[in-house]
Amino acid sequence: MRTQSPLVAVVVVPLLFGFWPSVTTVGPREGWQVFGSAQDADGRCVCTVVAPGQSLCSRDAKGRQLRQLLEKVQNMSQSMEVLNLRTQRDFQYIVRMESLIKGLRSKFRQMDSDRRTLASKNFQELKEKMDSLQPLIPVLEQYKTDARIISQFKEEIRNLSSVLLAVQEQMGTFDYDELNQKVLSLENRLRSCMSKLTCGKLLKISGPLTVKTSGTRFGAWMTDPQASPENIKVWYMDGYTNNKIVKEYQSMADFVSGVESRTYSLPFKWAGTNHVVYNASLYYNKMQSNIIVRYSLETGRVLTQRALDSAGFHNVYPYTWGGFSDIDLMADELGLWAVYATNRNAGNVVLSRLDPDTLRPLATWNTEYSKRNAGEAFMICGTLYVTNSHLTGAKVYYTYSTRTSTYEYIDIPFHNQYFHMSMLDYNARERALYGWNNGHQVLFNVTLFHIIQSDDDA
Ligand SMILES: *[C@@H]1O[C@H](CO)[C@@H](O)[C@H](O)[C@H]1NC(C)=O
Ligand SMILES: *[C@@H]1O[C@H](CO)[C@@H](O)[C@H](O)[C@H]1NC(C)=O
Ligand SMILES: *[C@@H]1O[C@H](CO)[C@@H](O)[C@H](O)[C@H]1NC(C)=O
Ligand SMILES: *[C@@H]1O[C@H](CO)[C@@H](O)[C@H](O)[C@H]1NC(C)=O
Repeated sequence: MRTQSPLVAVVVVPLLFGFWPSVTTVGPREGWQVFGSAQDADGRCVCTVVAPGQSLCSRDAKGRQLRQLLEKVQNMSQSMEVLNLRTQRDFQYIVRMESLIKGLRSKFRQMDSDRRTLASKNFQELKEKMDSLQPLIPVLEQYKTDARIISQFKEEIRNLSSVLLAVQEQMGTFDYDELNQKVLSLENRLRSCMSKLTCGKLLKISGPLTVKTSGTRFGAWMTDPQASPENIKVWYMDGYTNNKIVKEYQSMADFVSGVESRTYSLPFKWAGTNHVVYNASLYYNKMQSNIIVRYSLETGRVLTQRALDSAGFHNVYPYTWGGFSDIDLMADELGLWAVYATNRNAGNVVLSRLDPDTLRPLATWNTEYSKRNAGEAFMICGTLYVTNSHLTGAKVYYTYSTRTSTYEYIDIPFHNQYFHMSMLDYNARERALYGWNNGHQVLFNVTLFHIIQSDDDA
C-alpha cells in the first residue's frame, strides 16, 4: 500500500559533502596560482593564491586590491564548481523522474480510455498513486529555474574573471569600485543560493546498512558533524543506564574491526541513548536528573553542566521504548538542540535550541505531539521529525518546522530491520541517520528535497 512508488525511489539526491573538486590553476602565463581546496564553516571553498614572484601588481595599493579581487573570484569560481556538480547530479535524477511521471501520465490516460479492461481495484490504486505525484510537478518546474540561475551565475563569474585578467594587463583604466561592487553582489547571491541548496525537506529514508553488530539492545554511536572531513572518529556508548564508559575509534573501519583508540570514563553516568558529539564535545543527560553535561573529548574534562528547566526525566516523559530517554540531544545544520517534555506543555514534545557553550536555551518551541507516543526524534535543517514507534512498522509521522512554527503529519517509512530502535539521529556532515537497532549499529541514507526560490531573495 504505502510502499514507495517506483518514481519516488528514483529521487536519490546525492549530496556531495566531503567531496570537493580538485585544484584550480590559473595558467602560469598570468603568474597566479591557486592551490588546494577545502571547506570552511560556511561550506565555501577555501583556496590559497600565490602571486608571482615579481608581480607587476604588487607595486602599489591598487595592485593589492586587485589581487584580493582576483582571489575572491577564484574562491567563487570554486564554490560555483561545487554547486554546479551538486546541481548537475541532482538535476539528472530530476530529469529522469520527470520523464517517468510523464510516462506514467500518458499510460494513465491510455488506460483511462480503456478502463473497462482493468480491474477497478488496480485502476483505483493507480489513480491514487498518480494523484499523489501531482504536487511534484511544480517542484520540478522550480528546479529547472534554479538550474538556469546557476548557469547564469557561472557565466557572470566567467565574465568577471576575464575582465580581471584584462585589468591585470592594463591597470588603472577600470573602475575598481564598480568591479568590487559587482564581485560583492555576486558573492552574496552565491552564498544565499548555496545555503538554500544544502538544506531541504526530508523526502525519503533508505537503508539500513548494518555497520556492526555489537553491544546490548540499547545504545548510541555517532561521529562529529562539526569535525573536519579528515576527522572520522566514531564514539560508542553501550547501554542506557548505569554506564559511563565511552569508546573511541579512529575511523569507521576501526570501529567495524573493533580497534579502539581511546576509552573515556565520564565523571557521571548517563541516562538514555540520546547523546550527541558536536564540535569535539560530548553532550549527554546525567543519570536521574535533567542536567545536561558538556564533556570535552579533547581534554577529558566537564566543561559545562546545566539543568534543562522543567524537563521531565527518569522515565517521566521517555520515548515509547522507555529507557530514561526523556531528554534527547541532537545537532543539525543550525546547531545544537534538545527534545524533551514538560508538565507545562502537558507532556508534549518541547524543542529548544541550545547555546553549545553555556547550554542555555536560545529559543523554545512547544509542540502538540505527546512525547510518550514518540518513538524517536531527529532534526534536519531546523525541522523536527518524530517517529511514531520504536517497533516494526515505525515511520516518520510528525514534523515541526522551527522556521514557521507549524506542524504537519507525514508518512515516511523506514526499514526497522531488527525490530527495536533505541536511537535515531541525523548527522549533517554525513547526511545520514545513525541508528541503534537492537544491538546492531545501522546507517540510513536520507533524501532531502531542496525547494529554492527563483527570485533573488535573501
Ligand atoms: C578566499 O577564501 C579564503 C578562505 O576562506 C579567505 O581567507 C580569503 O580571504 C578569501 N579571499 C577573498 C578575497 O575573499
Ligand atoms: C558575459 O559576456 C558576454 C560577452 O561580453 C555577454 O554577451 C553576456 O551577456 C555576459 N553575461 C553575463 C551574465 O553578464
Ligand atoms: C567549535 O569549537 C571551536 C573551538 O572551540 C569554536 O571556535 C567554534 O566556534 C565552535 N563552533 C561551533 C559551531 O560551535
Ligand atoms: C548512501 O548512498 C551512498 C551513495 O549512493 C552509498 O554509497 C552508501 O552506501 C549509502 N549508504 C547507506 C547507508 O545506504
